[in-house]
Amino acid sequence: MELAGEGFGTISIDVTDSASVASARDAVLARYPELDTVVTMPGVMLLEDLRDPAHFEAAETTIDTNLVGTIRVIDAFTPHLVRRGAGTFITVTSGIAFLPLPPMPTCAASKAAVHAYSEALRAQLDGTGVSVVELVPPAVAAAGQEKVNPHALPLDDFATEVMQLLSEDPTPREILVKGVLMHRWAERDGTYDDLVAQRSQALAMLPGREG
Ligand SMILES: NC(=O)c1ccc[n+]([C@@H]2O[C@H](COP(=O)([O-])OP(=O)(O)OC[C@H]3O[C@@H](n4cnc5c(N)ncnc54)[C@H](OP(=O)(O)O)[C@@H]3O)[C@@H](O)[C@H]2O)c1
Repeated sequence: MELAGEGFGTISIDVTDSASVASARDAVLARYPELDTVVTMPGVMLLEDLRDPAHFEAAETTIDTNLVGTIRVIDAFTPHLVRRGAGTFITVTSGIAFLPLPPMPTCAASKAAVHAYSEALRAQLDGTGVSVVELVPPAVAAAGQEKVNPHALPLDDFATEVMQLLSEDPTPREILVKGVLMHRWAERDGTYDDLVAQRSQALAMLPGREG
C-alpha cells in the first residue's frame, strides 16, 4: 500500500460496514491511544444518468459510503474525543455540495448532506473541546479527475494551500482554497443559475448523451 510505503501506519476499514468501522476504531485507538484528529474522507464519485432508473444502485452506494460512512466513523470516534476533552473532526465535502455538477447527482447530494451534518455536529459538540472543520475541495487532480476535468488543481498545490489554511489561528470552520470560492459562494454572488447551466454541458460525459 502506497501510504504504508511512505511510513504511515495503516489499518483497513470499510465504512459501509459497522463491524469493520468498530474494529478499525479499536485497532487505531490501541495503536494511538492519544489520537486527537479524525479525518472522514470516504468518497465515491459516480456518474449517474437519472433518465435510467438503473442508476439507483450507484445512488445507494454513494449515500452509504459518502454520507452514512462518514456518520459511522464519526460515531465510532466521538466518545474517545469527547473523553479526551480536545480534538478535531475534519469532514470532507466538495465544491459540488454548493454548486451541483449534474452528471454526479447523488455525489453532490451526499456532500451537501455532509456539509449540513458537519454544521450540526459542530453545534452539538460545542463546549466539549472537540472542533469540527470541513474541508471543501474543488476538482483536484487525484483519482482520475484530471482526465475528466482539465481544470483540476494539481494535488501538490491543493495540499499546500490546505496546510496553510489549516495552520491559521483560529482554524477556519471551512477550509476553502481559492479555487473553490466560486462554488461555495455562487448563490450569495448571484452566479448560481448561470454556473449550473454551464456545468450542465458536462452531461455530455454520460454514455449515450454525447449528441
Ligand atoms: N478529487 C477531486 O476532484 C475531489 C473533489 C471534491 C471532493 N473530493 C473528495 O475528496 C475525498 C478524497 O477523494 P480523492 O480525490 O482523493 O479520491 P480517492 O482517491 O478515490 O479517495 C476516495 C477515498 O474513499 C475511500 N473509500 C471509498 N469507499 C470506501 C469504503 N467503503 N470504505 C472506506 N473507504 C472508502 C477510498 O479508499 P480506497 O483507496 O481504499 O478505495 C479512498 O481513500 C473524497 O471524499 C472525495 O469525494 C475529491
